[in-house]
Amino acid sequence: MKAAVLHTFGQPPRFDDFPDPQAGPDEVIVHVRAASLKNVDKGRALGTHYDRHAELPVVCGLDGVGVLDDGTRVYCGGPRPPYGTMAERTVVSRAWTVAVPDAIDDIRAAALPNPALSSWLPLVWRAKLERGETVLILGATGVAGKLAIQIAKHLGAGRVVAAGRNPRMLETLSDLGADAIVALDQSDDDLAAAFVREGPFDVVLDYLWGRPTTVLLDALTGHDLKAESSRTRLIEIGSMAGPTIALSAATLRSSGIEIYGSGGGGSIPRTAIFETFPSLWALAAAGTLRIDTEAVPLADVERAWQRQDVAGRRLVFVP
Ligand SMILES: NC(=O)c1ccc[n+]([C@@H]2O[C@H](COP(=O)([O-])OP(=O)(O)OC[C@H]3O[C@@H](n4cnc5c(N)ncnc54)[C@H](OP(=O)(O)O)[C@@H]3O)[C@@H](O)[C@H]2O)c1
Repeated sequence: MKAAVLHTFGQPPRFDDFPDPQAGPDEVIVHVRAASLKNVDKGRALGTHYDRHAELPVVCGLDGVGVLDDGTRVYCGGPRPPYGTMAERTVVSRAWTVAVPDAIDDIRAAALPNPALSSWLPLVWRAKLERGETVLILGATGVAGKLAIQIAKHLGAGRVVAAGRNPRMLETLSDLGADAIVALDQSDDDLAAAFVREGPFDVVLDYLWGRPTTVLLDALTGHDLKAESSRTRLIEIGSMAGPTIALSAATLRSSGIEIYGSGGGGSIPRTAIFETFPSLWALAAAGTLRIDTEAVPLADVERAWQRQDVAGRRLVFVP
C-alpha cells in the first residue's frame, strides 16, 4: 500500500510503499479516507515529542477517518506501530473506533476530534468548568485554540479571553465567541498589564507555555501577605512557545494558581473520550463548530509537511 513513511527523525515522511497491515485479535483494518496533520505528528517525526516513535521506518498519523471491511465509516485513533493513519490502510484496536454520523464529511470528521477534545476534556474533567466562569485561552489563534473559544462558550463559560500573536487572526476571534482579545506581541510589562486588566481568570487553557505563561504567572503573583487571591486552574495542553517556564516560589505561595496537564499519560480517563464523542458529533453535525480545513492528496505529504502558510487551518491528507 501507499503511505507517509518516516525513515529519519527530523526529515519529513515520504510517500512510499509499505507492507499492508494484518488485523490481530480485537483489531480492525481501517481503509483510510482522511487523516489530519497535527503538531503532535510533526513532534513525533522530529523525535521531540514525549510520545516518540520507538522504531523506524514507521507510518505517520495518529488518527483518521475510514471504513471498516463491513462498510461502517469510523473515526479511529492509536494505530498499532509501525502503522499509522496517513496510509491507504491502517490497523487499530476495535475499541478505538467510533462511528461517524452521515452529516459530517470525511475531512471535518478527521480534523475535529483531536483539537476539539483538547479543550473539551480538560474543561470538563480537569478544570471542572462552572457556568459563568471566565476562561483565558493562550494560543487562541491556532486550530485548537479557535475551537476552544467555541467549546468553552458551549460548556457554559461566561467570558472567554483569547490571547494570540497573529493580528489578522486575532481580529476574527470575536466572531467565534471571544469576549476580549489579548495580543501577545507586546512587552512583558504591557502583556502582564493586559492579563491583569482582563482577569481574574477561573480557568486558563494553555496551548503555549514558555514566555506567555511565564508572564501570566508573574502577573498573577501577589505582593501582599494578607491579600485574598482567587482560584485559577491552569491546564497545560501544548507548548508552542517553549518547553519550559520560569515559576517563582512567590507565585505558588501568593496566588490561587493550580497547574494541571492534559494530553494522555492518564491525566483524563480514557472513557471520557468516548463519552464526549456523541456531544462533539452532534455539534459538528449541526454545523455549530467552525474549523478551517484543507484537503491535500497523500501523495503530496512531503511538501505539505513543510508548509508554513497554514495558520489556523488544518491540513487533511486524502490517500
Ligand atoms: N494535549 C492535547 O491533548 C493536545 C491536543 C491538540 C493540540 N495540542 C497541542 O496544542 C498546541 C496547539 O495546537 P494547534 O492545533 O492549535 O496548533 P496550530 O493550529 O499549529 O496553532 C499553533 C498556535 O501556536 C501559536 N504559536 C506558535 N508558536 C508560538 C510562539 N513562539 N509564541 C506564541 N504563540 C505561538 C500560534 O500563534 P499565532 O498563529 O498567533 O502565531 C497558534 O496559536 C500544539 O502544541 C499541539 O500539539 C495538544
